[in-house]
Amino acid sequence: MQVTHTIAEIRAARRELGGVVLVPTLGALHAGHVSLIHAARNFAAKVAVSIFVNPTQFGPQEDFTRYPRPIENDLALCKEAGVDLVFNPSLEEMYPPDQPLVRQAIVDLPALTTVLEGKHRPGHFHGVCQVVAKLFNIVQPTFACFGQKDYQQFRVLSAMVDALNFPLEMKMLPTIREPDGLALSSRNIYLSPEQRTQALAISHALFKASDDVAAGIHQTNRLIATMRNILLEKHLAIDYAAAVDAQTLKPVEQISGVTLLAIAARVGNTRLIDNVLVQR
Ligand code: PAF
Repeated sequence: MQVTHTIAEIRAARRELGGVVLVPTLGALHAGHVSLIHAARNFAAKVAVSIFVNPTQFGPQEDFTRYPRPIENDLALCKEAGVDLVFNPSLEEMYPPDQPLVRQAIVDLPALTTVLEGKHRPGHFHGVCQVVAKLFNIVQPTFACFGQKDYQQFRVLSAMVDALNFPLEMKMLPTIREPDGLALSSRNIYLSPEQRTQALAISHALFKASDDVAAGIHQTNRLIATMRNILLEKHLAIDYAAAVDAQTLKPVEQISGVTLLAIAARVGNTRLIDNVLVQR
């Protein structure tokens, strides 16, 4: 496994390789990332992982400074998972302090980025698109893999790839969960044991709504009410519990085509997101 820190280094390493699949990450890797890395192998002969805590996608009150950065552990997990190439740039490499214009280079897709996460985290998707566009241009992958847990991120990035003709294919892979349903997230480490139990209400709410759809309940106001009640019963602070068209991310009144049921809620100071896709 080759570990690179500069754009020049990864470009030189990349030239020796054929098709590469990229798994972009913020680091603090867990079993969800490892599963993405294993799945990535199906798409290209070489797997590259980027590890970079991107400041431009965090709001001023968010957890950028305390976001976990266990780089030695991350590299060991990558090695064990058979990763060929790691890109772990410094902040200065990605956003050179003498080039302030870099942070102004944004991709704006407001129809997809001002709803759900975008409404509660203004500017978040500008930062995500900015860093992922840079990573795509730096690593030049033929495929890129993302987890369904960040479904909106996948939709936004897919729209960016389509709109700007990035020569790669986007792949979304299933959310990995603990046996009790909790979606794996690097932020789960912030939870106390009691908060972890409370947090289970998020996946339970989504599963219950999904079962209700299978049982024939298609009015989304009823599904949303069910999800909200389960969350409130466990005293979670709800940012949103929503039912939206999986492509446009616009609210729907009835489940007809593929619909995203999505939740963002806070347990103490920890904000968690999760979702499921349902279909009539
Ligand atoms: O999902 C993440 O981990 C991040 O948003 C990403 C895609 C690596 C961009 O920083």
